[in-house]
Amino acid sequence: MEDELEVSQALRTELKSTARVVVLTGAGISAESGVPTFRGEDGLWNKFKPEELATVDAFMSNPELVWEWYEFRRNIIERIKPNPAHYTLVEFQKYFEDFTLITQNVDGLHQRAGSTGVVELHGNINANKCVDCGKRYDDLSQAKPGIPPKCLCGGNIRPDVVWFGEMLPSRATNKAFERSSNCDLFFSIGTSAIVHPAASLPLMAKKNKAYVVEINTSPTGISDFIDELLLGKAGEILPRLGQMIEKKANSR
Ligand code: OAD
Repeated sequence: MEDELEVSQALRTELKSTARVVVLTGAGISAESGVPTFRGEDGLWNKFKPEELATVDAFMSNPELVWEWYEFRRNIIERIKPNPAHYTLVEFQKYFEDFTLITQNVDGLHQRAGSTGVVELHGNINANKCVDCGKRYDDLSQAKPGIPPKCLCGGNIRPDVVWFGEMLPSRATNKAFERSSNCDLFFSIGTSAIVHPAASLPLMAKKNKAYVVEINTSPTGISDFIDELLLGKAGEILPRLGQMIEKKANSR
């Protein structure tokens, strides 16, 4: 049996007594499933230029290249599976009375693991929309074939993800801010906490007196400002936190 994870008494108390929990996830939570992160040595932005692949201008000037790049990523995501970190958050949702899962990821792995009501700040890689009329195409068989496929209005269809320079979906963003400023326990998991507004959520939670925990393989820019940093892989740390709440649930 694995040693129990070393966490503070304060966190143990929070896990036992807290009702309102918010979790923010980033690319790191999917890394152990085989989805590349954006930053770091093997990060996507180390190999590709975001301005050539993840902006409206890039799509307008080379729609074929951008569409192909997203197809490449969709194919990776389709073939892989959620990992123990995703599954533990499904257990968190069952355990905590008021639970909100906010993600910057577009891979849909939280939903595939079984999480519901996930707040997707950057959209979803499997959703599409027409650049001209905005019609949604989650089922591309309804579109005219092509690279990229064409809308019935003739416009190009693009992935419905947030690109650099674009506004985040307002409903998701408002919910993320509202929940983060009204919670008791906040987890920031597998995110470099660089890209705003997501990066401001843990600090907003902290300002509003939540206990803020970060789970990451290395410290980030917010590590000095939060309550507890659990250094390591999300797929190893989260299941061990899950075991702690499981024990508590059984002794209730
Ligand atoms: P990043 O790639 O910036 O950061 C990933 C973080 O996960 C890093 O801090 C790693 O140390 C950490 N990490 C890696 N493997 C891990 C593991 N197994 N367990 C725990 N942590 C691990 O990804 P994000 O912060 O999600 O936006 O990036 C934010 C946004 O920047 C993305 O949503 C994307 C990107 O540009 C858009 O495309 C709009």
